[in-house]
Amino acid sequence: MAGRIPQYFIDDLVARADIVDVVGSAVKLKKSGRNWHGLCPFHNEKTPSFTVSQDKQFYHCFGCGAHGNAIGFLMEHDGLGYVEAIEDLAKQMGMDIPRDENPVEAKKRQAAKKSAETLELATQFYRNSLQVAEGHQRAQAYLQHRGLKPETVERFGIGYAPDDWELLKKYLVGQNISEKEQISLGLLVQKEETGRTYDRFRNRIMFPIRDWRGKVIAFGGRVLGDEKPKYLNSPETPVFQKGKELYGLYEAKTSPGQLERLLVVEGYMDVVALAEAGIPYAVATLGTSATSEHMERLFKVVPEVVFCFDGDKAGERAAQRALENVLPHMIDGRQARFMFLPEGQDPDSLVRANGKNLFEQRIVRADSLSEYLFRFLQQGLNPQEPEGKALLTQKAMPFFQKIPKGILRTLLIKKLAELVGVNDSDLQGQIESRPEPVVREPVQSQPADIIPEYAAETEIQADSEPEVKLSTSYAYKLLVWMVRCPDVCQALSADEHQQLKAIIDENKGFFWGKVFDQVLEYLKCTPGVTTSSLQAHWYGTETGRLLDQIALEEVLAEEFIVSEFKEWLRSLELKRREYQHDQRFDELTRKSRSGQKLTKNENEELVMLLNLLAKKKSQPEGDDAEVSQ
Ligand code: GTP
Ligand code: MN
Repeated sequence: MAGRIPQYFIDDLVARADIVDVVGSAVKLKKSGRNWHGLCPFHNEKTPSFTVSQDKQFYHCFGCGAHGNAIGFLMEHDGLGYVEAIEDLAKQMGMDIPRDENPVEAKKRQAAKKSAETLELATQFYRNSLQVAEGHQRAQAYLQHRGLKPETVERFGIGYAPDDWELLKKYLVGQNISEKEQISLGLLVQKEETGRTYDRFRNRIMFPIRDWRGKVIAFGGRVLGDEKPKYLNSPETPVFQKGKELYGLYEAKTSPGQLERLLVVEGYMDVVALAEAGIPYAVATLGTSATSEHMERLFKVVPEVVFCFDGDKAGERAAQRALENVLPHMIDGRQARFMFLPEGQDPDSLVRANGKNLFEQRIVRADSLSEYLFRFLQQGLNPQEPEGKALLTQKAMPFFQKIPKGILRTLLIKKLAELVGVNDSDLQGQIESRPEPVVREPVQSQPADIIPEYAAETEIQADSEPEVKLSTSYAYKLLVWMVRCPDVCQALSADEHQQLKAIIDENKGFFWGKVFDQVLEYLKCTPGVTTSSLQAHWYGTETGRLLDQIALEEVLAEEFIVSEFKEWLRSLELKRREYQHDQRFDELTRKSRSGQKLTKNENEELVMLLNLLAKKKSQPEGDDAEVSQ
């Protein structure tokens, strides 16, 4: 896990980066007067209301209110987390990030670096083998037969694993990569009985799977003929979790032009063939159906996701799972659509047969979520009969309940009410009063009224995760992260512990605040704790029930938790202090206005607060304030 990024570096980075370049690489900007203008990338518009100020180094949209600095732009536009955005900007500026880190963190980071290097070497090895290895002519011929141009092969970094048991191993060992390292990354397989090791991928076309920043984290390999298994993927490793990654997402994000939607397909070859045909926005799940984590990732990048399925029974089942998983992510402003291909065809074969335009017409004509949802719900029942209507309502409830409260949910309920001929407020009432289903989805655990004021305000600005905006408070999220990744406790400095303690103390009025306190105390004196050992420790108690609930909540990938935790803690601490200052300022001014005399100390304090507040006001709001402190 990477250590904390020092504040001076972030300040320096923001000072050196020019927001006009950062925004300009994604939005066409024209200079007029002191500012630059363009079409806002955050909402649909025909005339530009999006402004970028070079002097003030921030962007603002007069149409939708989007606003922020360079880091904020990368977060909002590219769907990056705070740390990711800093890493991305540093990369663009060619700056190396220094880290304040403890020895454990340093070791982990070294290990991560080594893994990345190894995977990069393997990628180069496979790519090179496609040019020179024994058998490369057959591999080249296969790619040609599948219709791939050299540019596409290049863009996706496609390579060839030679038909040999040890070539990659020998090459990597020659580069000082231990066999152990190679095994841990899934490149090398070790036979249990004999201990003998051999290359996992042999005589296969190799598709590198990249993460959000383009680093290779795993591979998929396809046979050249009809052998089984047709595809072989890297096993899950510390850097690769199948249920989270999407093949082609990096390539789609970095394709030229504005990304308006993503198309989710099944296979590697579909992604590559679509890109080749001029549809560069397809991504594939890796042999699983689209998970809730996938949805989160997709919607961070674009507001519209189209799921593409084969027109057979398996496609129908996959569509149902995608439907269930996408519902909790349907906050207003997002669109999910479903398209079904003719039986026996896949995107690869269709786009080759019919070309880009006809394929894109299919995308445009894809069912909306509500069309597909109602079609699915009405399957096998007769909505003309009262019994059918009752069944339909029954069946619809759990689906509707998964959708976050908002316009879409209300309209769907209305539509159902019309369909079955009941009053929609009755139906609404019934849905609201049903117990929440127990499912893995963003749990609406904390109603808004218990969020401390400063936290509620922080949420909208500093975070790009929509669930959090919707329901859970910032401080509560820290508890969730701590429970899900108890290592966080060890990773905190003494200062951070103190800050956390102060935040917890302020939330002790809430049940979860008390639980947070208990958990923190327990973790401080018990090393090696896991989520389940916490659940076990409090089994059968109220605390245990909250922990059980937290164990089901959807969270960030574990490798990001420590750094995000620290980042949020820092923002929350800043907000907390500001809030305290505001409160104290109000208190003193009230006292003075009511005619009471302030003491000398109070007067000094008031001047100090006045200065602080003036300083804050003179800075741009939002992300800027966050970064420059
Ligand atoms: P082509 O035959 O190359 O066109 O592949 P496809 O992409 O059309 O493959 P298919 O529809 O058979 O499978 C879709 C996806 O499922 C593939 O891209 C793989 O991710 C996965 N898959 C298919 N076959 C296998 C297999 O044998 N093993 C594993 N692990 N995954 C597979
Ligand atoms: Mn295919």
